[in-house]
Amino acid sequence: MKIHTLFSPLNADELYFTGRTTVVIDVLRATSTIDTALSNGAKEIIPVDSVEFAMKISGNAFGGQTLIGGERNTKKIDGFHLGNSPLDYSVEKVSGKSIILFTTNGSKAIVRAKFSENLHTCSFLNLSAMAEYLYNLGNEVTILCAGFNGMFCLEDTICAGKLITEIEKFKENIELTDASKASISLSKSFGRGIKKMLSETQHGKLLIENGFEDDIEACSQSNSSSSIPFYRSGVIKLPKENPEVKTGL
Ligand code: MLT
Repeated sequence: MKIHTLFSPLNADELYFTGRTTVVIDVLRATSTIDTALSNGAKEIIPVDSVEFAMKISGNAFGGQTLIGGERNTKKIDGFHLGNSPLDYSVEKVSGKSIILFTTNGSKAIVRAKFSENLHTCSFLNLSAMAEYLYNLGNEVTILCAGFNGMFCLEDTICAGKLITEIEKFKENIELTDASKASISLSKSFGRGIKKMLSETQHGKLLIENGFEDDIEACSQSNSSSSIPFYRSGVIKLPKENPEVKTGL
């Protein structure tokens, strides 16, 4: 087993992901929100890489069963039903719904990795479940950190380091790239108190400034979920909706 880590989606083009097993991490907040929405009964998430495309495909949606969610500069976009706060995605609002999701970094990273054979999303919320799943799958893994405006960000890298550390509890002698080793090292230096770490990152500070302090708490809940969100044919669902997924759990 070998684990690669990419610190930004700009580190690889779409074709890099062809046939790979990829895990996208956007702790603040897209992959935490996706986990929350699916755990609260959303039927599926449709990640998109532009607002225009979100509006275009929402034009085909009818009957109130499809919502559009996401953010620009952390804030809900005019005309969208939901922002990108996990707290927006309550059972009452999302149960049974398809959600088109556009976010600055996270949804774009997922779309960039769409040619992966297995494509999943991870955050602190489902970290242990994802580690066990990846170990059972036994494939070479690429962890794609969504980063912050195309650049490195600490929170996604620390989550990547912790994910690798969890996988190593199941299996020794995993081959790690230099970036994977660096993410483990950063998770050891900065990852002790997740909530504090998140609130001190650039993106965390911006969220607090914009009134989303409660999201820091929501995104810091380690292993509150055992979801394995799985992308196929343009939508993210949970395995029960994707019977072909071998969860190994
Ligand atoms: C992103 O995709 O960059 C984030 O989820 C942005 C945010 O919600 O602040």
